[in-house]
Amino acid sequence: MKSVLSLSIVALACVSAHAGEVEVLHWWTSGGEAKAAAALKSSMQAKGHTWKDFAVAGGGGDAAMTVLKSRVVSGNAPAAAQIKGPSLQEWAKEGVLANLDATAKAEKWDEVLPKVVSDVMKHKGNYIAVPVNVHRVNWLWASPAAFQKAGAKLPTTWDEFFVAAEALKKAGVTPVAHGGQNWQDFTTFEAVALGVGGADFYKKALVQLDPGSVSSPTMEKVLTTFKRIKGYTDKNAPGRDWNLATAMVIKGEAGMQIMGDWAKGEFLAAGKVPGKDFACVATPGSANAYTFNVDSFAMFKLKNEANVKAQNDLAAAIMGTEFQEVFNLNKGSIPVRLNMKMDKFDDCAKASSKDFVATAKSGSLVPSIAHGMAVPSSTEGAIKDVVSQFWNDDKMDAKAAMAKLAAAAKTK
Ligand code: BGC
Repeated sequence: MKSVLSLSIVALACVSAHAGEVEVLHWWTSGGEAKAAAALKSSMQAKGHTWKDFAVAGGGGDAAMTVLKSRVVSGNAPAAAQIKGPSLQEWAKEGVLANLDATAKAEKWDEVLPKVVSDVMKHKGNYIAVPVNVHRVNWLWASPAAFQKAGAKLPTTWDEFFVAAEALKKAGVTPVAHGGQNWQDFTTFEAVALGVGGADFYKKALVQLDPGSVSSPTMEKVLTTFKRIKGYTDKNAPGRDWNLATAMVIKGEAGMQIMGDWAKGEFLAAGKVPGKDFACVATPGSANAYTFNVDSFAMFKLKNEANVKAQNDLAAAIMGTEFQEVFNLNKGSIPVRLNMKMDKFDDCAKASSKDFVATAKSGSLVPSIAHGMAVPSSTEGAIKDVVSQFWNDDKMDAKAAMAKLAAAAKTK
């Protein structure tokens, strides 16, 4: 008995000598998101580490980023934070991020990541972040029950979209479930820009911010089409959280929602089956294009050795095949790691995976502006504000909005 006891004490001491704590800042608080985050937590706990949850609610992460800034400024950074796209470079320049090269090398990240992704995870050639997934943003989620009630057909063009919206309205269903928050307004806007203008226009106008494309007849058409959608949303849309908008489609109270595939996480968490209880189609006019949004975690420099070890274990776990599968099955996204088996994934994810590869080849794989993938955060904030102002102000016409957009696009 005594020897068994002392043996287990020795075993315990071995685990705890290496066990650390990771405080992880994220904004995954909806049903599907929380299930996915739980997978990360349990993989850390399995390694003996303590997970300190630092969840800041608010879709799109604006609130989380504000809280993160104040924590870092006060010298109290978390071990890891959900930071993505060009913002990673902004944080790296502050000199506060840890170098993950040792883990990246041991786990062969260069070989198992698409280059378009690994480039974003590096600062001056060193890994400063680890990617989790690939979300497709240009999705339209639809309720087959609502469409049947309205005798409507799933749209593939914007003209068809408005025909379906009109039929849904006549059938007493809210045509479009929307949440009036600026990142959600922009999620809709960029889908319209991609569908109406095509991938080349999208890249020129919204990624390169080329003045001739920002102020153009195509942009005016994009703005007009975007604003027309508002007439098919309900009066409670302002301020509504995205997952509550998804719930309207889940219940068949609304016909459609334009949202990235984290919405699928909500349908699945509610026990709904794709192709039967809900439909996923590319937003109108964008079947051959793909707006990507890659979630990633940056690690902050820490002093405590056990916590540094925990941080590296977290980075390794995130890129591991097991985690990539279970997390993405819940999150609605697809694995970012190449050559993963997709047999457990549904048809929406399989389509996303196939289209990611195809659009990368054809040049129509574009970064999401709404989700911090394309432009510096200051520019992103300025153009998002204009788009939401235009959405909310029924007296502003498309020409006036375009002039404001042109000015905002110059924000550095
Ligand atoms: C994130 C997703 C998240 C969504 C809603 C996006 O910006 O990339 O992971 O589910 O916001 O909160």
